[in-house]
Amino acid sequence: MDTITDLGRYSRAIQCLAIAPARYVPDLVEDARAGLLERPRSLPPKYFYDARGADLFNRICETPEYYPTRTEDALLQEHSDDIIAMTRPGYLIELGSGSSKKTANLFDACEKQDLSCVYAPFDICKPVLIEAADKLQDTYKWLDVRPLLGDYHAGLGNMPHYRGCKTFLFLGGTIGNFTPPEARSFICDIRNCMDPGDFLLLGADRIKDPAVLNAAYNDAQGITALFNLNVLRVLNRELDADFSTDSFVHSAVYNNELNRIEMYLISRCSQEITLGKLGMSIRVESGEKILTELSYKFYFDELETLLEECGLKVVRHFEPDNRYFSLVLAQRE
Ligand code: SAH
Ligand code: TRP
Repeated sequence: MDTITDLGRYSRAIQCLAIAPARYVPDLVEDARAGLLERPRSLPPKYFYDARGADLFNRICETPEYYPTRTEDALLQEHSDDIIAMTRPGYLIELGSGSSKKTANLFDACEKQDLSCVYAPFDICKPVLIEAADKLQDTYKWLDVRPLLGDYHAGLGNMPHYRGCKTFLFLGGTIGNFTPPEARSFICDIRNCMDPGDFLLLGADRIKDPAVLNAAYNDAQGITALFNLNVLRVLNRELDADFSTDSFVHSAVYNNELNRIEMYLISRCSQEITLGKLGMSIRVESGEKILTELSYKFYFDELETLLEECGLKVVRHFEPDNRYFSLVLAQRE
């Protein structure tokens, strides 16, 4: 059968490789049970990213208030030639790659330096992973795109072991969405996939004026609010729940002591919510909060310590004049 018509807008439909969990991770049923029954209530942030959530995230990145994407993109534009000249990657492996848009700066640099390589984007959101892979393969014919579908919280032990010079990418400030112990264990997971001489390029958001931070997570168009509320739609669909997205409000506040944005959904009223698949209901009081995301901000020294504790040495640090964001290139010795 001729399947050309099934291939969509791009000339190839790339297959992704599913990465099996290397260690146990709870599923949505367990996560929801544990998170919604404990106080304060919470939900893990990975459930934001269904197709609609990923689309809303890309729209957040384009809001005037959300400076991290623009800032990191400008750093990559300016320094990709240097980064590629230093790292000479045979494999670029990106964790939580999303749309891979900023990564294109590195492919442009490879092209200029006549270096062909493998690009392995790793993400939990299949539609976004496939779309990004197809687009890139279409634009960069020489690039060998090999998408990996999986949950990085389940460990990286089952990723293919690529033999050759590797540069891992962990961009977007996503490291800030981990708690400090999770961040350390994740950087160590990455380190364990590296051979001596391999690199990690880490993008992390910096501590700055709280007004700038609060604005970045409370855009005037309300896209961040839609993104935050989207997790309730995911629960409705996946858990047969009956959350009303109108009866919760988005809240994101910078915590000055803990250097992190705390994102909540706050109940507008006292309400009973049924979670069909969990076979239970919960009563949520008016003003009660569900924690949906943390976004830690860093001092550069903290980033250096984090990397060093995992056996990685900082070899370059790129930051803009306003020091809003760090791109740190580290190497396994
Ligand atoms: N790196 C991109 C996207 C950042 S958003 C950028 O800088 O713009 C975070 C990305 O991580 C999303 O694409 C989301 O689908 C992915 N992600 C979130 N939790 C994940 C998990 N547990 N395992 C793998 N990918 C995850
Ligand atoms: N990694 C992004 C960050 O912490 C994720 C993010 C941006 C986010 N805006 C958000 C997560 C709003 C939840 C809600 O900046």
